Amino acid sequence: MPLPPRIPLRRAQIEQVVTAFYARVRRDPVIGPVFLERLSDDAGVWRSHEAKIADFWANAILHERSYNGNPMMVHSGISTIKPQMFARWLDLFDDTLAQELPDGIAAQWSALAHRIGRGLRMGVEMNTANSGPPILS
Ligand code: HEM
Repeated sequence: MPLPPRIPLRRAQIEQVVTAFYARVRRDPVIGPVFLERLSDDAGVWRSHEAKIADFWANAILHERSYNGNPMMVHSGISTIKPQMFARWLDLFDDTLAQELPDGIAAQWSALAHRIGRGLRMGVEMNTANSGPPILS
């Protein structure tokens, strides 16, 4: 018996939100440069990034076994990502959810994104703390 979706969404809605979100990310003055430096502005690279992110959410929400990456390792490994940028990422994501989905569904997905975002931010904070100058007691 397949598990019911964590949030009542269809795959097509997930892809629609991911496309709308990264269109905003590319225009954002705070987190846009981090993505452009990492992914360039090549449309093909962005299409495969968006396909990977759609798989990530389809795995988390619809229990599709379509993603097997390690977001914590990826984000902790990007030195240009600063802990304070997560608030901006989540604000943009919430705006996109509110624009693309009914309120109740948007709120459920937002709660999940904020929970994952908190975890990724902690990973980046720990990484930033460990890479700083040694604390001489
Ligand atoms: C400060 C906020 C964030 C920034 C600047 C950021 C930036 C990036 C960049 C540049 C990549 C591409 C890495 C690459 O392929 O070389 C990436 C990958 C990814 N991001 Fe983020 N991200 C942020 C927050 C988040 C959050 C909050 C989530 C989830 C809720 C998330 C989920 C992912 C996933 C799933 C990948 C793919 C990782 C893989 O390669 O398997 N990101 N992110």
